[in-house]
Amino acid sequence: MHDGDTLHEKSGKANFDLIYDLEDPREYFNVLGEFGYSIPQHGYRLFSALLEARREEISERPLRVVDICCSYGVNAALLKYETTLEDLYARYGSQELSGFSCEELVESDAAFYRERRREKAPEVVGLDVARNAVSYGIRSGILDAGFAENLEEDEPSDELRRAVVSGVDLLSVTGGVGYISEHTFQRLLDCAPGDRAPWVAAFALRWVSYEEISEALSAYGLVTEKLEGHTFTQRRFTGDEEREYVLDELAKMDVDTTGKEDEGWYHANFYLSRPAKEAEVPVEKLLGL
Ligand SMILES: C[S@@+](CC[C@H](N)C(=O)[O-])C[C@H]1O[C@@H](n2cnc3c(N)ncnc32)[C@H](O)[C@@H]1O
Repeated sequence: MHDGDTLHEKSGKANFDLIYDLEDPREYFNVLGEFGYSIPQHGYRLFSALLEARREEISERPLRVVDICCSYGVNAALLKYETTLEDLYARYGSQELSGFSCEELVESDAAFYRERRREKAPEVVGLDVARNAVSYGIRSGILDAGFAENLEEDEPSDELRRAVVSGVDLLSVTGGVGYISEHTFQRLLDCAPGDRAPWVAAFALRWVSYEEISEALSAYGLVTEKLEGHTFTQRRFTGDEEREYVLDELAKMDVDTTGKEDEGWYHANFYLSRPAKEAEVPVEKLLGL
C-alpha cells in the first residue's frame, strides 16, 4: 500500500485500518515502515525503565502489563524479547518470510521469539479491537493473553475482567490515544483492585488532548505528569494533507513545531499516571532523562 492508497478522514489523518486486522503482521510492518513508524521503540525505552522501577517494589513475581491497542503485539515483542523495532521491520519485510503462509509464519515466529526471551520478561496481556491481530499475537507467543474487545462501546468480558482483577502493574499505550478515550481506561480501572491501581504510561500525538483521560484517571487516585522537554517521533506524515492539518491544529494550540512537525514528522508527548503515594520521584528522574 502506498501513500495514495491510504484514505484520509476529515481530520486529515491517514487511515490505516486496512492493515490493523490482517491474518499476520507482515503488511502492518511493511506499510508503517514506509512512514518510519517508530513510537514502539520509544515505548520500549520508557516502559522498560518504568518496569525496572516497579521491580524495586515487586520482586516476587513477573510484572504484568496490559498493552492497550496492542495490535499484533508490537510492544509485547519488544518488552519480552531481545529484539528491536528495526529487527522486526527487517524480519517481516524479508524475502525469506514473504512466501510463508500465515500458519508457517506463526510457527517461525514462535521459534524466533522463544529463543530471544529476556531474563525478566514481563507478562503482557494485549487488548485491541482487531480480532485477527490479537489472535496472531497469542498464537505466535508474543502475547501471554489477548482480548479482542472494544471498551469504548462495551463493558469488558468476564475473562478480561478476571485478567485485570488479578493485578496489573502497567497499562501502556503507543499509537492508540485518539482511537481510545477515557472510557477504555475507566472500564479497565473499574476492574483493578482498588488498593492496587496500575501505573498508566501513554504516548499521545501533540495535537491530541490527553486532558479528559488524565481527569478520568484522577478519579482512581492517579496523578498524571507530562514528561516535559521531550517529544517522540511517531511517524512521517503521509503527505501534504496530513501535514497541513496537523501544523494548523498545533498553531491554534500555540505549540512551537520548529524542528519537529514542520520537518515532516508527527511528534508525541509522553504521560505517566501513578497513585499519589508512588509519585514522589518526578517522571524525568524516574526515566533518567
Ligand atoms: C497505530 S495502531 C498502534 C498499534 C501498536 N500499539 C503500535 O504502536 O504498533 C492503532 C491500534 O489501535 C487499535 N484500536 C482502534 N480502536 C480501538 C479500540 N476502540 N480499542 C482498542 N484498540 C483499538 C487498532 O486496531 C490498531 O491496532
